[in-house]
Amino acid sequence: MSEAVTVSALWRGWRDQLSQRGFATATLDAKILVGHALGFDTLQLAVRESELVSSLLTSTVTELMQRRLSGESVARIVGHKEFYGLDFALNEATLEPRPDTELLVDLALKALPVGGRFVDLGTGSGCIPISVLVNRPDASGVASDINPRALQMAGRNAERNGVSGRLEFLQGDWFGALAERPRHPNRIRNRAFGELRADPGSRPGQALSPEGRGEEGFDLILSNPPYISSEIVETLSPEVKNFDPRLALDGGPDGLGPYRIIAAEAAGWLKAGGAVLVEIGYDQGAAVSALFAGAGFERISVEKDLAGLDRVVSAHHI
Ligand SMILES: C[S@@+](CC[C@H](N)C(=O)[O-])C[C@H]1O[C@@H](n2cnc3c(N)ncnc32)[C@H](O)[C@@H]1O
Repeated sequence: MSEAVTVSALWRGWRDQLSQRGFATATLDAKILVGHALGFDTLQLAVRESELVSSLLTSTVTELMQRRLSGESVARIVGHKEFYGLDFALNEATLEPRPDTELLVDLALKALPVGGRFVDLGTGSGCIPISVLVNRPDASGVASDINPRALQMAGRNAERNGVSGRLEFLQGDWFGALAERPRHPNRIRNRAFGELRADPGSRPGQALSPEGRGEEGFDLILSNPPYISSEIVETLSPEVKNFDPRLALDGGPDGLGPYRIIAAEAAGWLKAGGAVLVEIGYDQGAAVSALFAGAGFERISVEKDLAGLDRVVSAHHI
């Protein structure tokens, strides 16, 4: 049987091991993961530092630390991540939300008219639409993803952040998700909770379509699509390559595949005067802008993130 250790000795010991293995955030990682295993917040970790930890909990900590040592991120291990000041649960199908994506939310909040309606394509954890809706109680939206497991998590996140009544979830391939609504679209299954709720914006038999524009189009189309070229995905850090879902990363041979689809089809789903906001890689501003210009969009701009890197393309449908 292993010797009992104190709370303090436990996290400090793992801090040293992580540090020796080159983890730059060793102290923080060790405190978070020990705290997670013991059910302690930062304050409890300090106040209860001389308490002994049971061998069962010590083994749990060892398992978590082995995962960290193998390159899995702390957020993935604890199963949630903060984004735009909100908490988002994660599963194996969801990308870990990145701080860079907060710019897309800032721009969406500015661009959305009062009572505005938007769609977020490739929603993952739902971090984008949920952050918009929490900050805009007048707005409503649709969140879509090709991966049903991601949508399930987005549904849970909408519920825990109190916006599930204003966010509809549709599964499918980019705009195909909007066209492939359920057979009885006035009642939409909230997959996360298995309940049916009314969708006030549609009638039985009515599908959203570019021609019909059942709800007269969206004010905004948002997306942070996969935009890394297939070749580059292979070179990413193990933390990203081995743990973020491939479907969330790989944008095809040149990384622009999803933008081609979004640029070609977006106008058909927008109100006149509506806009598209897409996150991009730092070197994709010119190429993505050209795709939207080629599709007839106007007032195209490339917005920079806090690091001064190109991060979002904005394009208007006049
Ligand atoms: C870069 S992740 C973004 C996730 C989330 N919006 C965020 O910002 O953290 C891209 C998302 O697009 C989804 N996706 C990939 N291919 C898709 C497709 N063909 N149609 C719809 N969604 C797709 C992935 O499942 C993933 O959730």
